Amino acid sequence: MPKRISKVILGVGGGIAAYKSCDLLRRLQERNYDVTVVPTPSALNFVGTATWEALSAKKVTTQVWESVDEVRHVKLAAENELILISPATADLIARIAMGRADDLLTNLVLASSAIKVLIPAMHPNMWNNAATVANIALLQERGFHVMRPATGRLTGADSGIGRLPDTSEILSYLASVIADTQDLIGKRVLITAGGTREAIDPVRYIGNRSSGKQGYAVAQAALDRGAEVTILSANVTLPDPVGATVISVESTKDLEIELERHFQNTDLLVMAAAVADARPTHVGTEKLKKDSYREISLVENPDLVAQISQQKRKQIIVGFAAETSLNIAEANRKLLAKGLDLIYLNDVSTGEIFGSDSTQGVFITADGKEIPVSKSNKATLAGQLLDLVISKLN
Ligand code: CTP
Repeated sequence: MPKRISKVILGVGGGIAAYKSCDLLRRLQERNYDVTVVPTPSALNFVGTATWEALSAKKVTTQVWESVDEVRHVKLAAENELILISPATADLIARIAMGRADDLLTNLVLASSAIKVLIPAMHPNMWNNAATVANIALLQERGFHVMRPATGRLTGADSGIGRLPDTSEILSYLASVIADTQDLIGKRVLITAGGTREAIDPVRYIGNRSSGKQGYAVAQAALDRGAEVTILSANVTLPDPVGATVISVESTKDLEIELERHFQNTDLLVMAAAVADARPTHVGTEKLKKDSYREISLVENPDLVAQISQQKRKQIIVGFAAETSLNIAEANRKLLAKGLDLIYLNDVSTGEIFGSDSTQGVFITADGKEIPVSKSNKATLAGQLLDLVISKLN
């Protein structure tokens, strides 16, 4: 993230997702932001003043009637370069849209010329309500940046759009808002994600544990930096990153066809998918009965990235190697054999990588540099990956 912005207001609205902002505060502090927390009075129903004061090591007030001598709303408005509100509830969004000033946070928003970022979280019916839709549109017109909520399980039994996105997603959204330069504008990035499946019969398949999280994190990071992103998505259940073209594939053959179709039209290929190395020699047209399901004869699949790299002109190609030990020699062999510019050797020995939000391993460049990555989240790794290829792309 750029150094330009250092002082940030974290506004907290009165929704259950307020507790997630404790983590957001920590992550912002880790990135060297000087954060002042301004909850709304109702937010204190979920997380109290003591928690915010302890975490931020600063005085926390919710009203202009407290510390009046400091004229806090004007002082805070002048000092801070960014106001990030998470969660932004329907009521808080409505109050801001109307220009009301009935607590410290809304006073501050009115008095400030800082960059303003809203992270809405609410029930899907409230998010889709015409009043909220109109308020959001109005605020966007006025220059507010509004992140789209995530879809999934909500408080209670309901699910749908309205969840607060994960902290890492909020941070990458924030990075995209305040990026000094969007260094991938005009670049086309093709990402394979997930794991291919090979049919045994109409019911069964051979597959692998890849969740697609790493590929999707690279897609999100590339979108944040202005790239045009296409994802070849193999059996991934994650929500599509907003702004990406997502093409679903199932088998290695499907992926091969789509790769051929898109490769020439791309600047960067990130081969994050776990490609099945073999497929059944014969695929049953009907479900195999138990007695003929004792052995499966396999035939090897083509190495897709090795194959496509033969057609390489200006493209940069990044591969992944999943190894159960940190085998640098083997990763180097793959880098060469597959015609890659960069490989990330994923240490999967801990069993934590597949489906997990974190990763650890080492990047190896075509010119032999090794860049170790200690345990970090997949969004951070995605940013590092793009940083390592950016000079080659330009
Ligand atoms: N890959 C590919 N086609 C395959 C197998 C792998 O394009 N048939 C790509 C993967 O997307 C990844 C890289 O090659 O970017 C390395 O994948 P990995 O599974 O680690 O290597 P394999 O070549 O399959 O070797 P092995 O499974 O024997 O370790």
